Amino acid sequence: MTDLASNPTATTHPPYSKQEWQQGYESQRREEAYWLELISGSVPQGLTGTLFRNGPGLLDINGIPVQHPFDGDGMVCSFTFQEGNVYFQNRFVRTAGFVEEQATGTILYRNIFGTQKPGGWWKNAFDFQHKNIANTNIIYWGDKLLALWEGGLPYRLDPKTLETIGIDQLDGVLAEGEAFAAHPWIEPNSVLNNNQPCLINFYIEPGLSSTIHTYEFDTNFKLLRKQSHSIPGFAFIHDFAITPHYYIFFQNPVQFNPIPFALGLRGAGECIKFKPEDNTRIWVIPRDKNRQQPMTELEVNAGFIFHHANAFEVSNQQLCVDSICYADFPEVDPESDFRDVDFDALYPGQLWRFTLNLETAVVKKELIEPRCCEFPYAPPQKAGQPYRYLFMGTAHQPRGNAPLQAILKYDWETRERQVWSAAPSGFISEPIFVPQPDSDAEDDGWVLTLIYNGAKHRSELVILDGKTLSETARLALKYHIPYGLHGSWVSQCFV
Ligand code: CO
Repeated sequence: MTDLASNPTATTHPPYSKQEWQQGYESQRREEAYWLELISGSVPQGLTGTLFRNGPGLLDINGIPVQHPFDGDGMVCSFTFQEGNVYFQNRFVRTAGFVEEQATGTILYRNIFGTQKPGGWWKNAFDFQHKNIANTNIIYWGDKLLALWEGGLPYRLDPKTLETIGIDQLDGVLAEGEAFAAHPWIEPNSVLNNNQPCLINFYIEPGLSSTIHTYEFDTNFKLLRKQSHSIPGFAFIHDFAITPHYYIFFQNPVQFNPIPFALGLRGAGECIKFKPEDNTRIWVIPRDKNRQQPMTELEVNAGFIFHHANAFEVSNQQLCVDSICYADFPEVDPESDFRDVDFDALYPGQLWRFTLNLETAVVKKELIEPRCCEFPYAPPQKAGQPYRYLFMGTAHQPRGNAPLQAILKYDWETRERQVWSAAPSGFISEPIFVPQPDSDAEDDGWVLTLIYNGAKHRSELVILDGKTLSETARLALKYHIPYGLHGSWVSQCFV
């Protein structure tokens, strides 16, 4: 482990090569299935189950680059852990748009973050259809493996082969034209649902005013409860938080100007303007409608938020929400290449704790971790509950903005940090914590992360010890997987 805070050279030399970082955004067209080769350490025998991951696999369509990685077609990876070995598979989600575009070899659809049909604005004007790219997250629930993208319906895959089965409307819960967010929570013991596990997710229906739809499902994907609430204004809400009795939504202070989008000049995501001086509106919605408690609105200047780490109830009236906040969120420049990003010119994501008083509507905020971080991951057994440990992706250096190369474990009790770094050539993805079955210690388990090794131009799966954050094992893929977004762990093996 590296003690970065005491490294006097840490802030003078960038710990990475920008060229190596950029190569991690090369498209990957190979789809294979094979056992991973062990580079070092050994895979724990007690680690049995499957890690699924999703992210953009194509950063170009037949040589035409996508404007932003968020526009890349979803490619799913699975890692099956069995008796100390790991079996790997990767496959594109064969969405309708992916199949059509691969057949014709050109871009046929507009995408949210600026990838447009070739031929200029007049080829794109007044085309409000978007391609469902199913690239953001992947969950296994109620016997269904679903690739999620917040702008459209889920795509169901075969968990054994990762073959695409098709669009899934969850037995009619989701109507055609609706969507399902990419950030569901699994509550392990739901007090509202007979202490059984339940899956909770949402969908934002866009418009001049927006509608938040919330859903809770039992372990068979049967709908337990659904609510719909209208909130004023345009809403860009990627993630939400839950507690045993509440859903919590942070409505980022943004403005949407639809005109350049309608005229085909810009993608919808490029028409969003962040207003850092404005307050974030926080909507706290009681999960149990029988309590006849109204939705509460609070406000705080919170910056821009993609991801929440966790939330919990301190008392009947007080909630804590932990989130990664950006002081500013730059507009996507249609003329620039995202690979040329100047990290120094952008604000880093930082961990904050918000304490919400539902009685007085006062919100207190506290900066917890000034170091650049993203992809927070709380132990899944503590979803919506008070918790002690948080895992996150972080930069190698303690200050400034840089690519994520390290994993940080934060201890809320002692306020201590442990850091494991993959620098200089390793670039990490979301750390997924897998608890040791039958253990009461919250950090007893493993942290799984897929890293891109820029020196070898291929990806490696790294297993860290949850308690010490020391490297337990490293396994090699035959090729690289472009930087991914989110994933999940299940204890079942499918192959
Ligand atoms: Co996300």
